[in-house]
Amino acid sequence: MTTEADLLNKRAQDNLNLFIFKFKRATRIFVELWLGLKNDTIPHEKCGGWLFIVGVTVYTHLDYKLFKLLKKEHLYPENHPYIYWSNVFVIALLGYLGWAAFRVQARRMYFDQLTKIFSDLGLVTVTKRLPAFVSDREIDAHYHVMTLFKNGLSVKDFLLVKDKLSEALHCFIEEIREARKEGLIEILYSRKDFDKIVDLDSPNSFPNYSFTIGNTRLGKQVKNLSDVPHFLIAGTSNQGKSTFLRQFITTLYLNNMSMNFTLIDLKSGLESICFRDLPRVDCVTEANKAIKALEKLEGLIKTRAQILLANNCEKIEEFFKIPVDQRKYPNNMLDKNLTRHLIVIDEAAELFLAGQHLSSDSAVKSRRIVQTIAAQGRAVGLHIVVSTQRPDYKIVDMAIKTNLQGRICFYMADNASSMTILDSGRASDLPNLPGRAIWKNGNEIFEIQAPMLSKDAANQVLDNLRVKKAEEAKQIIAPNVTEANEEVDLEKDA
Ligand SMILES: Nc1ncnc2c1ncn2[C@@H]1O[C@H](COP(=O)(O)OP(=O)(O)OP(=O)(O)O)[C@@H](O)[C@H]1O
Ligand SMILES: [Mg+2]
Repeated sequence: MTTEADLLNKRAQDNLNLFIFKFKRATRIFVELWLGLKNDTIPHEKCGGWLFIVGVTVYTHLDYKLFKLLKKEHLYPENHPYIYWSNVFVIALLGYLGWAAFRVQARRMYFDQLTKIFSDLGLVTVTKRLPAFVSDREIDAHYHVMTLFKNGLSVKDFLLVKDKLSEALHCFIEEIREARKEGLIEILYSRKDFDKIVDLDSPNSFPNYSFTIGNTRLGKQVKNLSDVPHFLIAGTSNQGKSTFLRQFITTLYLNNMSMNFTLIDLKSGLESICFRDLPRVDCVTEANKAIKALEKLEGLIKTRAQILLANNCEKIEEFFKIPVDQRKYPNNMLDKNLTRHLIVIDEAAELFLAGQHLSSDSAVKSRRIVQTIAAQGRAVGLHIVVSTQRPDYKIVDMAIKTNLQGRICFYMADNASSMTILDSGRASDLPNLPGRAIWKNGNEIFEIQAPMLSKDAANQVLDNLRVKKAEEAKQIIAPNVTEANEEVDLEKDA
């Protein structure tokens, strides 16, 4: 039962709320002014210009002349300095106050607009509550973060209307996520669109095992094999996995003259055509040959580890720093060719699943070897990249996921597939555009437009190297020397 005291309390509470509301409304201009000063967003040239005009007017008594001209001298508060100077003070600040009032109005209109957008998009709880605007913060040249009170809604509710929300807000929403503070949601957005095509225009310009994964809104993103030694590429058909591999292999091939490559392409053999007949490249298009090649590479882990041990090194980078004539090799070791080696598997299902090409024993074996190389290869300079169309746990099992830390995930048809590769549903939110992908490495996760290198363009830069194949045997290259030099350069760059 409601007592009289309860009613009085409620009334007092209502009055207090009303007072707070009115107080906030009355002081909003000053809050805006304070925010403008704090964030340095006030246009001082314009507001200060008005201040200057008022100053000059007062100094030259132009104000008095104006009163006189209008025959209102009797109103001029000449003999009331208190009134006079407080008037001057307020008029002088009108530039700043006007700017703040304009901001308050713009903000109010923005709130109204947001409220309308949220209710039009059905972002309303059963109790008819809408998300409430908290702040909008610029985080760099291209990105803003809008923070909202969820008011009972979930990230999923927002994701369901992401495209419409982007359209209504005239921006490109990159991510919608829970904020660290409970009850808040963050919308990461940009007004700049992604480039639809990013050509790999100068594949020769990526020294020391660096390569590009594509462009974000901020520009080209360059990574290095030393930081991301192995990675997994996934995505539905025709999204750009093989194209990514083509530009990636071409870049590494052209810039690292001692690096070796084993390209396993069992699907059709067509994707690796560009790299056939090149020195330092082994293109494998048959299953039994692929297993043999992988066995040989697995063997390299042991022999290379012995060389590192003999030289008291933990990883290949330390070995490359030792002068060539001071390097030690265990007795009877014939293969002294310690260089970085990239193994690429385009369409892992062909190698990891039993079927047309492989018996189940061979499939198990190939998967086991890939897992071993991914787990132990980094220290000895073996790098592995696996591409898959199917986000199947038989291909992307825990061992593969744990060791292939770099991930490039093109568009995925559903949230679960994206989760398998990225532990995030972001690849299913991507626009269905070839080359558009999510890059993930540890905590780093962002959208990219992968570089485009057509087969013709790749052939153009690789063709004149192909003719040298015949001369390869005759070539007297000291790979260790070259590799050492490349590694020393890498150190300098770092
Ligand atoms: N980065 C890119 N930018 C623009 N277009 C691209 C890009 N990557 C791929 N494409 C376009 O998409 C087509 C398919 O690319 P690609 O063969 O690499 O896909 P895929 O994922 O390997 O397909 P599949 O799973 O069938 O092997 C290409 O022929 C090209 O026209
Ligand atoms: Mg492909």
